Amino acid sequence: METKIKQFRRYTVTSALPYANGPIHIGHLAGVYVPADIYVRYLRLKGEEVVFIGGSDEHGVPITIKARQQGISPQEVVDKYHNIIKESFEEFGISFDIYSRTSAPIHHQTASDFFKTLYDKGVFIEQSSHQYYDEEAGQFLADRYITGTCPHCSFEKAYGDQCERCGTSLSPLDLINPRSALSGNTPVLRETKHWYLPLDQAEPWLRHWILEEHKDDWKTNVYGQCKSWIDQGLQPRAVTRDLDWGVKVPLPGTEGKVLYVWFDAPIGYISATREWAEARGTDWQPWWKSADTKMVHFIGKDNIVFHCIIFPFMLRSEGSYILPDNVPANEFLNLENDKISTSRNWAVWLHEYLHDFPGRQDVLRYVLTANAPETKDSDFTWKDFQARNNSELLAIYGNFVNRTLVLTQKYFGGVVPQPGDLTDSDKELLETMKAFPERIGQSIENYRFREALSELMNLARAGNKYLTENEPWKLFKTDPERVQTILYVSLQVVARLMLLSEPFLPFSAAKLSGMIRLKLNTWQDAMADELLPAGHQLGEPGYLFEKIEDSAIEAQVNKLLETRKANEAQATPAAKPQKDTVSYDDFARMDIRTATIEHAEAVPKAKKLLKLTVNTGIDRRTIVSGIAEHYNPEEIIGKKVVMLVNLAPREIRGIMSQGMILMAENNEGKLCFVSPAEDFHPGSEVK
Ligand code: 2FM
Ligand code: ZN
Repeated sequence: METKIKQFRRYTVTSALPYANGPIHIGHLAGVYVPADIYVRYLRLKGEEVVFIGGSDEHGVPITIKARQQGISPQEVVDKYHNIIKESFEEFGISFDIYSRTSAPIHHQTASDFFKTLYDKGVFIEQSSHQYYDEEAGQFLADRYITGTCPHCSFEKAYGDQCERCGTSLSPLDLINPRSALSGNTPVLRETKHWYLPLDQAEPWLRHWILEEHKDDWKTNVYGQCKSWIDQGLQPRAVTRDLDWGVKVPLPGTEGKVLYVWFDAPIGYISATREWAEARGTDWQPWWKSADTKMVHFIGKDNIVFHCIIFPFMLRSEGSYILPDNVPANEFLNLENDKISTSRNWAVWLHEYLHDFPGRQDVLRYVLTANAPETKDSDFTWKDFQARNNSELLAIYGNFVNRTLVLTQKYFGGVVPQPGDLTDSDKELLETMKAFPERIGQSIENYRFREALSELMNLARAGNKYLTENEPWKLFKTDPERVQTILYVSLQVVARLMLLSEPFLPFSAAKLSGMIRLKLNTWQDAMADELLPAGHQLGEPGYLFEKIEDSAIEAQVNKLLETRKANEAQATPAAKPQKDTVSYDDFARMDIRTATIEHAEAVPKAKKLLKLTVNTGIDRRTIVSGIAEHYNPEEIIGKKVVMLVNLAPREIRGIMSQGMILMAENNEGKLCFVSPAEDFHPGSEVK
């Protein structure tokens, strides 16, 4: 990837609007908000004009499903989570210029106007089709209101809009064995009218715009996903739904229809910009319509198609908007080697982290950046979190800063000392440190935040090494003048670290700024020779980072173990209570043997029955077994089973059945064979 030589006057930076149906977790932070915040803080330090947009995505079926489950209104659901999300972002230092929401009137207006403009321009295809309808609930089943088996990977709980196992985007009619999420019933098809974006028409343009123009500057994971979408052939996509929660379709006779959540949500970026600009009494339009504005969308990988294909197509069709310059999407972050999952509560929730680790925002920001899923999925573990704090932030960065400040305090009363003659090692450090702002800046501008952070740590490492090699604490008695120089040089590094850390570790940078009584306003300052002149009075030294003890980590790991146990308990339904006791004699009267199924066939007109021929070791006999809904005849031929051979013969559907195959049955009525664990001869007794 290369930085484009294009000059921009302003930056519109958006971050995916999280659904207001649950709190924020570390996956959201690592994927979207931490990198976006680093980028924006860096741009601001460079003196660029930036607006950083965030907000809650408050429409869509998951929200109405949650409201239904909890017996409250969708508005109550989004109010609750919008506030939790907004507060936790604020406390975590995500520096939005505005954090808005898509239930805001300005958004309904903006989205509605946008739809109307496209409608008036004749962009949409208007089409009636048959869609699934739940007769019991009296409702069409859009998106997540319908579940079924994925036609691509056979996952049985795929949604009507997407399979969460293989990630394929689906439409309800693709699902095998569809079921209503409302009643569990099989839905019927009913006719309804909707408006479609003709994405198929966009293919030549998308090929040019993405596959050629952005070949070198979009991340390979983003580019690759776009290419595969385009190569598979794009289809027209419905942008309206039969639902009552969302932005109403602004056309006459469309009662009960709203805009598809993925149509209105990205327009939320525009609405939020309008809200922000109006509050400042300025014009929002240059931020979206001026060619000298650079637009960047930070998103997660499951949002790529919407931000790279659908939204740009909408913007282009409208005609007056610019397109994104880049869409840096990250891959997924796992937690302790398992996929983060809201429904399984397998996550580290931001609001809980802030509660459990007060004042430690930067540690999480650091860990999530150092281990960001930039090019492939990565894994968050609490052990790694602890190690990165204790052996990197504390042992390298914190140690260097603390030693420098404490020694300056001790030897020179906290006044920056006058340097003497510079040795080669002094000159080398002073010289190399000047290259860091450019190097770190380049990495940030290319969306390589891991690399940028690792460079920042290299500066701290260089400082630490310099101090360790020069050992001012040993020299002070014999050569205090040399110590003056060493601490002067070290302090220049400390000041630079403070400034360059701000995008990554804003809380620590602010703390350090207080400790050295220095405010630096621009990234360019970090290129100066001297940031702390001799004679400058520093403030009180203190600790930037603290050790994270094993007990704190154990508490978090235990919390996850509890979650895992609870999930397992939920997945294993309680066994039925024990039956009345029987005597051994009762049991001994039953003749139970191992046997082999030699032949199996369906019983005509009996859905549940199979006619089996079994070798009991005593004889070959016929058994009629009620397993046809669980097994096909072909798959059980040759199966070793356990059977009750002395059950009184009984005629079933005109066939004499002589015995009974033993089956295990779970609480959901699923059956499975009870088989000898080893390859036993037929006729062996089970006692
Ligand atoms: O995946 C999500 O969480 C969506 N709510 C993201 C929306 S991004 C934008 F379009 F608003
Ligand atoms: Zn699938």
